[in-house]
Amino acid sequence: MRSFLFVPADSENKLAKAMAAGADALILDLEDSVVADRKPLARDVARDFLDRHVAAAARPGLIVRVNARDSGLTEADLDAVMPARPDAVMLPKAEGGPDVEYLDAQLAKRERAHGIAAGHVGIFVVATETAKAIFQLGSYAGASARLGGLTWGAEDLAADIGAESKHDAAGRYIEPFRLVRSLCLFGAVAAGVQPIDSVYPAFRDLDGLRRECEEARRDGFTGKMAIHPAQVGIINDVFTPSPAAIAQARAVIAAFAANPGAGAVSLDGRMLDMPHLKLARRLLARADLSLSRTGNH
Ligand code: COA
Ligand code: MG
Repeated sequence: MRSFLFVPADSENKLAKAMAAGADALILDLEDSVVADRKPLARDVARDFLDRHVAAAARPGLIVRVNARDSGLTEADLDAVMPARPDAVMLPKAEGGPDVEYLDAQLAKRERAHGIAAGHVGIFVVATETAKAIFQLGSYAGASARLGGLTWGAEDLAADIGAESKHDAAGRYIEPFRLVRSLCLFGAVAAGVQPIDSVYPAFRDLDGLRRECEEARRDGFTGKMAIHPAQVGIINDVFTPSPAAIAQARAVIAAFAANPGAGAVSLDGRMLDMPHLKLARRLLARADLSLSRTGNH
C-alpha cells in the first residue's frame, strides 16, 4: 500500500471525509491523537465505523492504531474493535519481535472468539519510538506471519531521548533521526515486510512533502503515512511506479531474457547483473499492485 491516512477515531467528521481521500488505507487512531478521556468514545466510533464499512466492495484498507502496551489500554482497545474485523492493527511504541508475538496472540484469541478466520487481521508496527526500540529493529523477522509493515516515528523518539530538535536549519532530519529512518528501512526489508516512511507533519507544505516522498522512494520505502487528506494524492503519485520506470524495468528484464544463461548483460552501455534484475522485478510487482488498487484495499 502506498498511502496510509491517520484519522483521529474520536472524529466522525474526519472519518467520513477520510473515506473520500483516495488513501490506500486509513489508520483509525485510538492513540496519540485522542486525549485520555475521549478514548472510550473513540473506541465506540471506530467500532461503529468499521461495522458500517468493512463489508463494502471498494474501500481503503482499515487499520486501527491501538494504544501502546505500557498504557494498559491495548487489550480493551482490541476488545472494542476486533468484533468489527479490521484489516489490521497498528501497534505504536513497539520494542521488537516479542511485542509482535504478544499482539499476534491477542489477535488470535479474539479471532477465535468472534468467528474470524485465523490470521485474517494483520499487524503494522511503529518501531522507533523509544531509544530501546532502536536496538530491536533487527528482531522482527519471523515474529508473526501477520506482520505487513514497519514504520518509524520521530516525535515520540525525540521526547524519549530529550532531543531539542529533529531538524536542521534547512528542515532536514538531523543525524539521530536519519539513522533511525535507515534502520527502520533495513529492519523492514530484513523481516520481509513493507518499509513505510513516517508522517510529514507540516501538512500545508506540499512541496516539502513531495521532496520527502521522493527521497523515501529513492531509498527503498514503498509507502508513506499521511496526517491530512491533502497529502494523499502526492504520496500515491510518488509511490506509483512511473511509466518511465516501468519501461526501464521491462527493458532490464528483456535484456536478461535475450541472453539466457548470462549473469551479466549490457543495456544502453551499462552493465546489469542480478541485483538489477531483482530490482526490476520488484518494481513491476509494485506497479501491478498499484494498478489493482484504485480505491480497493
Ligand atoms: N482525516 C480526515 N479528515 C481530515 C483530516 C484527516 N486526517 N485532517 C483534516 N481533515 C478534515 C478537517 O476536519 C477539515 O474538515 P471540515 O472542512 O469539515 O472542517 C478539512 O479536512 C480541512 O482540514 P484543515 O482545516 O486543513 O485542517 P485541521 O486544522 O482541521 O486539522 C489536523 C489539522 C492536524 C488537526 C488534522 O489534519 C488531523 O487531525 N490529522 C490527523 C492527526 C493524527 O491522527 N495524528 C496521529 C498520527 S501522527
Ligand atoms: Mg506518537
